[in-house]
Amino acid sequence: MENIVSIDSEISYIGVNDRDTPLFENIWPLPKGISYNSYLIRDRNNVLIDTVKINKVADFMGKLEYLLSGDDLHYLIINHMEPDHSGAIPELLSRYPGMKIVGNGKTFEFLKGLYGIEDNLHEVADGDRLNTGKHDFTFYLTPMVHWPETMLSFEKNKGILFSGDAFGGFGSLDGGIFDDEVNIDYFENEIRRYFSNIIGKFSPMVQKAIRKLEGLEISIIASTHGPVWRTDPGRIINSYDRWSAQKTEPGTVIVYGSMYGHTEKMAEYLARRLAENRITNIRVFNSSKTHPSYIINEIWKYNGIILGSCTYNNGLFPPMESVIINLSHKGIKNRLFSAFGTYGWGGGGVKTIISYMKENRWEMVGEPVEARLSPGDSHYGELDLLARKFSSRVME
Ligand code: FEO
Repeated sequence: MENIVSIDSEISYIGVNDRDTPLFENIWPLPKGISYNSYLIRDRNNVLIDTVKINKVADFMGKLEYLLSGDDLHYLIINHMEPDHSGAIPELLSRYPGMKIVGNGKTFEFLKGLYGIEDNLHEVADGDRLNTGKHDFTFYLTPMVHWPETMLSFEKNKGILFSGDAFGGFGSLDGGIFDDEVNIDYFENEIRRYFSNIIGKFSPMVQKAIRKLEGLEISIIASTHGPVWRTDPGRIINSYDRWSAQKTEPGTVIVYGSMYGHTEKMAEYLARRLAENRITNIRVFNSSKTHPSYIINEIWKYNGIILGSCTYNNGLFPPMESVIINLSHKGIKNRLFSAFGTYGWGGGGVKTIISYMKENRWEMVGEPVEARLSPGDSHYGELDLLARKFSSRVME
């Protein structure tokens, strides 16, 4: 018996959960798993929207064949070609060789490059439509949300937006598929971690896509990851809108790298002084322990960032370097920052932090504090001053 979920009498959710893969894209931890969502629309011409990653093809094909029960699959609409959604295409084609593949010019470049597929293509441009019987699809090209070929497919009669990666998140769908069947608070953090690490770099394109959707009567958002939003699609649109506009709230994230505890001691001192200066949202991370994706998720929320590093080989401590390179990749804007750290015989850590963050055009607040070997009274005095100045800017 296949586990089939009906969205309505003609549209089914046939996605799969992946609780096996430890790292999404071989980089990002998946402690709560992930879902690869796919949708089947039964019509005069049957339509499949997106597929799944190759490790879950057997489960996926079982659901598809059960629902089609011997009927043909006429169209595959590809909203996104990343292999977590395109992995089943070769297998699909071998079972449904007459299936037409719907995508844009860029989609087909990826299709050829990744799978050598060049036939049975139905190319669409921005605003093009496809009628499959009772259903009417309009395609909206949204390049770089998340790859250059990304598009969204809107089914007008039911008001369903099949949105690809947009409006998706980490987290497997553990029984509940729809937003009204799950506790969304459980997903919220993993949705933002997905957004900030996977999609956030392309925030201006997300903004463009959201503006493009204005005026559509959307009743359901069916993304390729995470819950299907049938009760409150506005909630996920608003979250993505706020995050991609890089709106922050007052708060400070302190991230430090410390070999023998001296830089950590400065971090602890600074955190306490910030609290005394009325910042209530303070998050402190040890870069040697916490994966950068969790740190970036918090940094996405708050307007203040203070980075601390000991010096290592005349430069940054490598775990801090990894955080900072990740931060530079994400295109995070409009943050206040400062730096602190220690060195043994030659400086380098703090200087490197400052130069990276200035490249990102973050505004430096107060004077960075750097101690030789371990912090003394004068350094704690400087940290007091820094905490006062930093808090007053964060809380403005
Ligand atoms: Fe879920 Fe960009 O792939």
